[in-house]
Amino acid sequence: MPTPMSPSATARDAYFDALVREYQPNRPLPGAFYTSADVFAVDVERIFRRWWMFAGHACAIPKPGDWFTCTIAGDSIIVLRDQHGDIRAFFNTCRHRGSRICGTETGHATHLVCPYHRWTYDLSGRLMANTAAEFGVDPAGLSLHPAHVRNAAGLIFVSLAEQPPSFDEAFATISRKLAPHGMERAKAAHIVEYRVKANWKIVFENNRECYHCPANHKEYIRSTYDVARDEARLDPRRQAEIEAITERANARFRALGLDEGDVSSNMTGAFYRCHRTPLMEGFVTQSLDGKPVSSLMGDFKQHDVGTLRITVFPNFWQHSNSDHAVAARLTPLAPDLTLVRGIWLVDKDAVEGKDYTLETLLPLWSTTNEQDWTICENQQLGVSSSRYRPGPYSKLREPNVAHFLEWYLRETAGWTPASRAAE
Ligand code: FES
Ligand code: FE
Repeated sequence: MPTPMSPSATARDAYFDALVREYQPNRPLPGAFYTSADVFAVDVERIFRRWWMFAGHACAIPKPGDWFTCTIAGDSIIVLRDQHGDIRAFFNTCRHRGSRICGTETGHATHLVCPYHRWTYDLSGRLMANTAAEFGVDPAGLSLHPAHVRNAAGLIFVSLAEQPPSFDEAFATISRKLAPHGMERAKAAHIVEYRVKANWKIVFENNRECYHCPANHKEYIRSTYDVARDEARLDPRRQAEIEAITERANARFRALGLDEGDVSSNMTGAFYRCHRTPLMEGFVTQSLDGKPVSSLMGDFKQHDVGTLRITVFPNFWQHSNSDHAVAARLTPLAPDLTLVRGIWLVDKDAVEGKDYTLETLLPLWSTTNEQDWTICENQQLGVSSSRYRPGPYSKLREPNVAHFLEWYLRETAGWTPASRAAE
């Protein structure tokens, strides 16, 4: 039986609907979307509790019985590899009196044992105790609550919904394009957690454009054509130059048997993007000097394979190069606080000190990350002002941000440009 709605939820929904009516297309959201506890509650219910959330990498749990926990929409979730090698996800809540079962972030077990009264579950979530006589309940009805899970070439996504939205197209595209990168045969070389004092949408919006890059990311922009592409949109005389670079790179990717493509989410209308982009001339990977920072990953025989960028709304992005990958997982904690986990991955057989060093592996993205958090925190402070009014987005350099917001409003409020026109 569904839990009855709290009386305040009805008022909250009405408040949210009123805020949505204030939204003006091609502008950021009104301030309350970034600051209000009521909006955050709606985000939890309609986005995080329903949508596909990146949980972690499959290479973190290589063997049957390996597990990790993560927090999604306030719920602790156990992600494990079962005895058949399949990945499963369960709510970390005992079916007896609700105790948390796995109390740490990672572990290995042949069974999951609740610390309270030692109810024991196998790796498929089945309760192994015979509760029929003593409790009067068949143990078949007391399995751990499962969550939907998909493993896209080593990226694990979890949905807490009973009936999640379709993930099939994203799953097929990411699985195909990411496969050569060998993410299942990777390992985390470094993990860092940032507590970013900004709303999760501000953090995600910032990821969806590079208009801010020239002013903030002098290290990052040396390696990619993001800024040159933006400039070509502003100055059509440069378009031929960028198209020629892209075509040459795509021809090389094709010759290597790799998927090409440079399609942004606002062009496809999708909640994800997954495309390979060229690196600047002289760069064979996304490092400060363009030189390799680790041994080759996956199926690659050479370094310069561009960078495969994957973004999945609402909490994940990853840049995958030939020799390393860097991922970000967002966990929204409060209206003005987002936990961002940064993960640097290399081949599982790469040896620190021999094949890679953290001194050369980390700086490009650790620097870029910290620059991003600073500007996100500044934006959070600014949108919290009583005098903040949403300003216009660039039609050339910020359409992906507008697309992300339209996705957000469609998922939370059924908003579409057509529905606005009909108001
Ligand atoms: Fe888990 Fe009692 S709450 S065994
Ligand atoms: Fe940035």
